Amino acid sequence: MREVKVELGGRSYQIQIGSELLDSIGRQCKKLSLGRRCMVITDSNVGPLYGEKVGASLSAAGFESVQVTVRAGEQTKSWRTAAYCHDQLAAHRMERGSFIVALGGGVIGDLAGFVAATYLRGVAFVQVPTTLLAQVDSSVGGKTGINLTSGKNLVGAFYQPRHVFCDLSTLDSLPDRELRSGLSEVVKYGIIYDDVFFRRLEKLMPALVGRQSKALGEIVARCCAIKADVVGQDETETGLRAILNFGHTIGHALEAVTHYKKYLHGEAISIGQVAAARLSCLQAGLTSAEARSMETLLEKAGLPVHLTLKKQQVESLIQAMSLDKKVSDGVVKFVLASRLGQVQWGCKVPMEQVREVLYQLV
Ligand code: GLY
Repeated sequence: MREVKVELGGRSYQIQIGSELLDSIGRQCKKLSLGRRCMVITDSNVGPLYGEKVGASLSAAGFESVQVTVRAGEQTKSWRTAAYCHDQLAAHRMERGSFIVALGGGVIGDLAGFVAATYLRGVAFVQVPTTLLAQVDSSVGGKTGINLTSGKNLVGAFYQPRHVFCDLSTLDSLPDRELRSGLSEVVKYGIIYDDVFFRRLEKLMPALVGRQSKALGEIVARCCAIKADVVGQDETETGLRAILNFGHTIGHALEAVTHYKKYLHGEAISIGQVAAARLSCLQAGLTSAEARSMETLLEKAGLPVHLTLKKQQVESLIQAMSLDKKVSDGVVKFVLASRLGQVQWGCKVPMEQVREVLYQLV
């Protein structure tokens, strides 16, 4: 088992990465001085697979747990489901000392974290991410929230978990497409922070796509360590943390114009990263060989690197970018790479250039 610490003073916590961790959740929670009662929030895909195991581990350690299962899918990150969870917490008389266990992928982590941040003005929670995307990104760093009709993650709070359990065995039940989607964020860490890791990924990619747990353990731990490092320096995204959004300005817009149906998050981010790499060549001094390496690695992960949109839809994509919350005063700001492993944030890019690059990808 590997451990990574997120250093945030009194709110520091450990991320554990290993196989068969679900059985030890109760034992580990015992060490966190949490109350006796808890609610496991999970979804209709993950609950039937792992809910019982987690519940058994919690009761074996002396906790009294109840499970709330919500519908799987992005639509669950809503006021309505959050209110349902709050009501369930109240109905089960959960108190200040009670805690929440977020068991699932990114949607559950964001939703349950938001519920934890707001119920009784904040109760403790632990993250049990069961997708690669959640293990390497959303479960770490305390971003919690829900969507509004006008956009994703528009309501939320920075609220750190007390512990993160990345059980690699839960990835066994993950569909291939979801695993590949998670690999998109993995590649991102190499691009933004660590060229040696990027080169390592070039070697490991076949093993990762083939789900070899040793390789998966290594990369999940490295991604968590990078994220912990970034979040430890800039918890609330006043600067540096923005680098984690490499590829996300275009990626988010792409998800929005395709109504979150055509692309999984990591797929949209893959295309966004290819576009950001090309813009980096034009604006930030990235070499075309480095941009090609990025594109090749994403392709090796089985991710899309071209826009499968009609040309007319590209204009809607550009329009949608203005709704992204990283846009201010009508200026589109990008995270761009100056070289492999090093990025700058807040780079203002002329819309004409964005349009040019997007048309190259059609
Ligand atoms: N997923 C980006 C962040 O946590 O800041």
